[in-house]
Amino acid sequence: MSKIKIAIQKSGRLNEDSVKILKDCGISIDNGKDQLKAETRNFPMEVMFLRNGDIPQYLRDGVVDIAIIGENVLIEKGKDIAIAERLNFSKCKVSLAVPKDFEYNSIKDLDGKRIATSYPNTVNEYLETKGISAELHQISGSVEIAPNIGLADAICDIVSSGSTLFKNNLKEVEVMLTSEAVLAISPKISKENRKLLEKLQFRIKSVLKARN
Ligand code: PRP
Ligand code: MG
Repeated sequence: MSKIKIAIQKSGRLNEDSVKILKDCGISIDNGKDQLKAETRNFPMEVMFLRNGDIPQYLRDGVVDIAIIGENVLIEKGKDIAIAERLNFSKCKVSLAVPKDFEYNSIKDLDGKRIATSYPNTVNEYLETKGISAELHQISGSVEIAPNIGLADAICDIVSSGSTLFKNNLKEVEVMLTSEAVLAISPKISKENRKLLEKLQFRIKSVLKARN
């Protein structure tokens, strides 16, 4: 019998709630510590624990059938990937921020400036619509440190509670997009596994309904 392959975040802010929603759907994961692939009980499913940024490519290639992923990651590098369900957790913003003492009036103040980010495509697109050009520095984490070490004048990153910005003496100046966890589908999913996806979606819908 076929099993549907689902990718979830290996570690980070989506991991716990992703495991939780599957659990609420009656699917428990047999997961040893540091095990990157696991079987489930009560549903024909295989779970892969992957890095966020790698998930769009795995979906595209059909290595996994579905994934629980931040919509912001799809916007950055998976615009071609379809969303089956919005999951109403891990809500965050993707925002531009500058040092507190930066006298910021409008996006024009960022023209010609250096912006550090892990979301270069999202930033570029946003700046383009505003007619602004900036020098982007792509870094993969701890982005908020960049202005303090002289690497950039501004940053673009995820804002959730706002505590990372606050602790690094930064202020949010533009919200580029809002995001939440979504269930994404591989374009290569088989007919058989699409049936399983429908079953899963049915359970997810009732869980989400009960949560509200
Ligand atoms: C994420 C994100 C922000 C922060 C936002 O970083 O990149 O830095 O959380 O959350 P907050 O507004 O609640 O403070 P994470 O801790 O995942 O580390 P990383 O950037 O090094 O990957
Ligand atoms: Mg961070």
